[in-house]
Amino acid sequence: MTESPAKSVKCWGVIPAAGSGSRMAADVPKQYLQVAGATVLEHSLNALLRCDFIERVLVAISPGDKRAGELPALAGPRVLLVEGGEQRSDSVLAALVALHRLASPQDWVLVHDAARPCVAPGDISELARQVIDSGIGGILATPIVDTVKRSGDDKRVVETLARERLWCAQTPQMFRLGVLRAALEDANSKGLAVTDEASAMELYGEAVQLVQGSPDNLKVTLPQDLHLAEYYLSGQRSSSQ
Ligand code: CTP
Ligand code: MG
Repeated sequence: MTESPAKSVKCWGVIPAAGSGSRMAADVPKQYLQVAGATVLEHSLNALLRCDFIERVLVAISPGDKRAGELPALAGPRVLLVEGGEQRSDSVLAALVALHRLASPQDWVLVHDAARPCVAPGDISELARQVIDSGIGGILATPIVDTVKRSGDDKRVVETLARERLWCAQTPQMFRLGVLRAALEDANSKGLAVTDEASAMELYGEAVQLVQGSPDNLKVTLPQDLHLAEYYLSGQRSSSQ
């Protein structure tokens, strides 16, 4: 897919990149760590920019962030910087408010974590194809492969969950701008913490479809994740040469 299938409805990108990376515990927020020749954030951004059907990408950065201005990829004509907020959902909402000045409420938005540098552009296109075909918002996700236990407070197993219907949610998560903004604002006003867009949409009573992605699309969270990200990104680079 190279262009927006319906001329009047457009697709936009949003990258929340205003986190501090506390679990990574590095000298800089994890989105600015180097992996496979570029920062984590540049890889994530470039994956969205490689999708021609995405008009522009809004990147939410921390207030006072000086590092973003030093990255050439963030100065490109299809990139806009906005100020993020305290929680991930505040950063996404700030970008959606800015996007409302450029886009129609019916337009689609793909929200993608800065911390997921290994997403394959082919998987992003497949998500967009299925969402636009059905008209129902959706997310990339992978079926759970492990046996999953639920515990009580005492670390003793309460039950084993049937894994057939359990999925790990990834990003991008793709919804229409207007309803996504309303859902996030609604969750905010009720004081409900949501860690992804789909949770806000579910609470708002909207359907969310799952599009199977790849386990390679890991979220860089802990120091050891960088080695895996390096491995996957190097593999992508050599297969595209
Ligand atoms: N994020 C954001 N604004 C925040 C918090 C998070 O834009 N206030 C972004 C992060 O930069 C990241 C994505 O949301 O790209 C997913 O969040 P997470 O992996 O939790 O990143 P951090 O919050 O930075 O990490 P940690 O929770 O370990 O502190
Ligand atoms: Mg976090």
